[in-house]
Amino acid sequence: MKICVLPGDGIGQEIVTQAMRVLDAVGQRFGRTFETTEALIGGCAIDAEGVPLPDQTVAMCKEADAVLLGAVGGPKWDTIDPAIRPEKGLLGIRKALGLFANVRPARLYKQLADACYLRPDIVAKGLDVMVVRELTGGIYFGEPRFDGEKDGERFGYNTMTYYEHEIRRIARVAFEAARKRSGRVCSVDKANVLDVSRVWREIVIDEHKKYADVELSHMYVDNAAMQLVRDPSQFDVIVTGNLFGDILSDEAAAITGSIGMLPSASLGESNPGLYEPIHGSAPDIAGQDKANPLATILSVSMMLRHSFNMVEEADCIENAVEKTLEQGYRTGDIRQEQCEMVGCTAMTEAVLANMA
Ligand code: IPM
Ligand code: MG
Repeated sequence: MKICVLPGDGIGQEIVTQAMRVLDAVGQRFGRTFETTEALIGGCAIDAEGVPLPDQTVAMCKEADAVLLGAVGGPKWDTIDPAIRPEKGLLGIRKALGLFANVRPARLYKQLADACYLRPDIVAKGLDVMVVRELTGGIYFGEPRFDGEKDGERFGYNTMTYYEHEIRRIARVAFEAARKRSGRVCSVDKANVLDVSRVWREIVIDEHKKYADVELSHMYVDNAAMQLVRDPSQFDVIVTGNLFGDILSDEAAAITGSIGMLPSASLGESNPGLYEPIHGSAPDIAGQDKANPLATILSVSMMLRHSFNMVEEADCIENAVEKTLEQGYRTGDIRQEQCEMVGCTAMTEAVLANMA
């Protein structure tokens, strides 16, 4: 199995380094060999090569069976020409690999119930949502786009576009995912206002005809944002477009207590999948061994499960993470009284010990 590793910026390097230790350990335990290569993306690629996504990085990712990414961006590149911002590297690799489906499971570990921002009676009802976000279309990529001037003042726009085939394939991912969960899909749009959303809803309804065993509902995005904090237990799979999915997946992550816990998978038709924590590069704590490595470690387990079909290996990592939380190890983002505060390395070592 070939894995291309893209640590990126900020805490990206340290969380990926730690996650690779977990990958090595699981390989040793189950007799698997993982061949890894490393490439540049984001700010570090701008510094070294002048672009956020060097051609060589794309080529190396295409040759791999899966990609593990840390995070991109930081204040150092905030004032750079927007055409080469670090984020363009991430958007570029998603597009180059055709990773149209971004799967973001937000579940609350019972050990972290106290870290949850919601009222205990709401938490008690459970929180296990999977956001399926369309990743290579919508307003992120739609043309035309413009940043300039008109009628003597600054003026800009983007365009939210969706083709039927883009909607059908992401709807299928959501329906398939729901079949392996509680069998419910909520499609989120803004069909009361946006034309593109009316097309979205019509096609989702049509695609659903092939999935009669799955329950489909629809919600406007503003209401969905509210319902997620009011009663998240009503959701199983949420399927939505690129921008709404970006926003709702951060919200879903935050209500579980910490964005530092959540992994994600970006999948396409045939190219390698890309796995990354959903949090960013956290430049404020970079290089201090404070970051929570669990989202990246859990991204490795998602990789093993989805790209390599290594179920036991993935279970081994996930069980070890849960046990580590049970033993009371906490990084700063999930800190709790009476629990031991540890850094990125020590947290990983606890996970490694629990895998043995
Ligand atoms: C995410 C991030 C990215 C996005 C940024 C960094 C380009 O917020 O993965 O959710 O908007 O997709
Ligand atoms: Mg985001």
